[in-house]
Amino acid sequence: MQSIMRLVILGAPGAGKGTQAVILSKKLQIPHISTGDIFRSNIKNETPLGKLAKQYIDSGALVPDEVTVGIVKDRLAEPDCINGFILDGFPRTIRQAETLDRMLEELGTKLDMVIDIEAGDDIIIKRLTGRRVCPECTAIYHLRTSETARRGICEKCGAKLIQREDDSEETVKNRLKTYHDQTEPLISYYEGKGLLVRVGGEGSAADTTAEIYQVLGLTE
Ligand code: AP5
Ligand code: MG
Repeated sequence: MQSIMRLVILGAPGAGKGTQAVILSKKLQIPHISTGDIFRSNIKNETPLGKLAKQYIDSGALVPDEVTVGIVKDRLAEPDCINGFILDGFPRTIRQAETLDRMLEELGTKLDMVIDIEAGDDIIIKRLTGRRVCPECTAIYHLRTSETARRGICEKCGAKLIQREDDSEETVKNRLKTYHDQTEPLISYYEGKGLLVRVGGEGSAADTTAEIYQVLGLTE
């Protein structure tokens, strides 16, 4: 029986947050909460939230804190989060991190660990042009490492894979700038709280998974 884990996965765009969160969510049987996936689902369904978020996402900027925080608050209050959760892409600003601390305090709990996946900008820019994603089930693939990506059909649900609109080189560069300006300060924030663990994101995805398993005391 696994102990309850409340985790945040930090890292630059393309560091591998989503890839690792999916694996961990399955392993630990706890929900994977990706604010990016929530926004993309709303964009696809043309909801008012989707229309608002799209303006920011397309340019590589952050969706305003007050919008994002409300979404996460509602999601964390859902019953499946009682046994833990993996936050991917939230928090992304100091203000979001402080709000998360307060939200969890109100729920009578706190974070157990923040895992920072480290990868340099050059690797990320090269990597993101090869990403393919499923617009239906959010599965993530890469042209270099996946035959499914090259075939273009999701192996989980059969939908046609797409390239994310924000994965153009220009938008990736803007996203990296946004990351360095607004999200990177969270590394010191969580280091100060004694919650931060760094893992390498430049090797293979399997290497990163092995490091994460090690820090969490998990076996393969
Ligand atoms: P979001 O969807 O969170 O995007 P992101 O942070 O830019 O991160 P990515 O999803 O691009 O990368 P990832 O780290 O998940 O990497 P992945 O595993 O896919 O956010 C999108 C936008 O929404 C933001 O720009 C913002 O506008 C908005 N938003 C979201 N949250 C917000 C918030 N809290 N506040 C405000 N705005 C918010 O891997 C990338 C690729 O590499 C894949 O193809 C994968 O197969 C491959 N890969 C993974 N690991 C490796 C490896 N080790 N080696 C080789 N390839 C690998
Ligand atoms: Mg992601």
